[in-house]
Amino acid sequence: MPYTFPRSQELFERAHGSIAGGINSGIRLLEKPVPLYFERGYGSRVWDVDDNEYIDFQLGQGALLYGHAPAGLADAIAAQAKLGLHWAAQSELELDVAERLLRMVPAAELVRFNNSATEACMAAFRLARTHTGRKLILKFEGHYHGWSDEGLVGFANPPSTWNDPEPARTHPSQGIIDEVTERFVVARWNDVAHLRERVEQYAGQIAAIVCEPAMCNTCCIEPGEGMLAAIRELCDEHGMLMIADETITGFRFGAGGAQAYYGVKPDLTVFGKAIGGGTPFAALVGTKAAMAKIISGESMHAGTLNANPLCLAASRWCLDEVIAQGADHPAELNRLGQKLMTGLRELADEYAVPLRPQGPGLAFHSLMIKEGGNERVVENYRDYAELQDVPRWTHLRRCLLEEGVRAIERGLWSISLAHTEADIDEALQRAKPAFARHAAGWPEA
Ligand SMILES: Cc1ncc(COP(=O)(O)O)c(C=O)c1O
Repeated sequence: MPYTFPRSQELFERAHGSIAGGINSGIRLLEKPVPLYFERGYGSRVWDVDDNEYIDFQLGQGALLYGHAPAGLADAIAAQAKLGLHWAAQSELELDVAERLLRMVPAAELVRFNNSATEACMAAFRLARTHTGRKLILKFEGHYHGWSDEGLVGFANPPSTWNDPEPARTHPSQGIIDEVTERFVVARWNDVAHLRERVEQYAGQIAAIVCEPAMCNTCCIEPGEGMLAAIRELCDEHGMLMIADETITGFRFGAGGAQAYYGVKPDLTVFGKAIGGGTPFAALVGTKAAMAKIISGESMHAGTLNANPLCLAASRWCLDEVIAQGADHPAELNRLGQKLMTGLRELADEYAVPLRPQGPGLAFHSLMIKEGGNERVVENYRDYAELQDVPRWTHLRRCLLEEGVRAIERGLWSISLAHTEADIDEALQRAKPAFARHAAGWPEA
């Protein structure tokens, strides 16, 4: 029998009396039929308040690379909690974590900690502007760098802007500081010639190029041949910093992140999510040269809870876990993810559902082709926005949820180190009736 969610419904209704809109992050409203309330998780599984068990590929928006509540991580946090929650001062723990990052990440020479990747991205932008004395940051359509005024410029440019002479600087929120959007140049992902044009058009004004090395936030689109090398080359040529936002890719793509996976050395890197294993933790990492203006204090960096010992204790455990995976990581995540992608595609074909899982495996996206959509290789945000049938994916996701398979609301799936072959097999078994119900129930009456 498909799951039902009466207790989550009841709590969500109650939440409207005390929590603005009933949720604490806008995206959670996308979960249908109701934003779920959870009670406990273990390994690859999570249980909601109705005692429904899910094989979890949402994984706390990808932060739970180690699965839910690994015993070692829980012990590390508990042990630290007994020693002290917060000092707003130094501890040897921060050196333990920073020194591990230096060993693991190719472009890491110095580190600063924050509580969220949104903050670390803001710090990176400020630092790049201070470093170069220039005002503009170049970013790509479809790349997400946190929910701040700065992080979302040009993230989801509507088709009405696509004929503009240059990619627009739209922002999905009202209330932002107008000038912020003018401080960005937006470019299309995976188009080197176009990128060169954008850089030349604003020559001498751009402080940094920022990207997700693989565009995990939009259709999980990997960099095309030469894309990251071209960014590096342009940065060197034009005196700009290269900022890699590895909030999702960090430690998921291996101990050295996507920069080791794809072989590129950014000047600054942002880590979030998996660096804290579910605790609110992030890092800005850079070369000595790129971090100089933070050292001098010209680019201010601060935060009451920065380098909080609880998060550091968690992070030290997480990084040791990644190091212990050895050189094989992330091959096993890719293998399991690709098996899941193949199985989902087979189910899609069996039930004539236009789902085309896309991505490397360790993370992948549920591309759902619109009726009449011209199926093709998806290289950038515009391809995706043109092709993705959002309501249809939302319907299939709900059917999957009702059978106990949970993907990220917008369509991303992440594999954790706790997932096994048996989990993938079981997820596909559970997915079969979900596809059957989706095929029978779509389009909705
Ligand atoms: C690539 C990227 N950068 C930055 C962020 C912001 O991270 P946080 O939500 O921890 O502030 C996210 C969050 O999903 C992200 O995916």
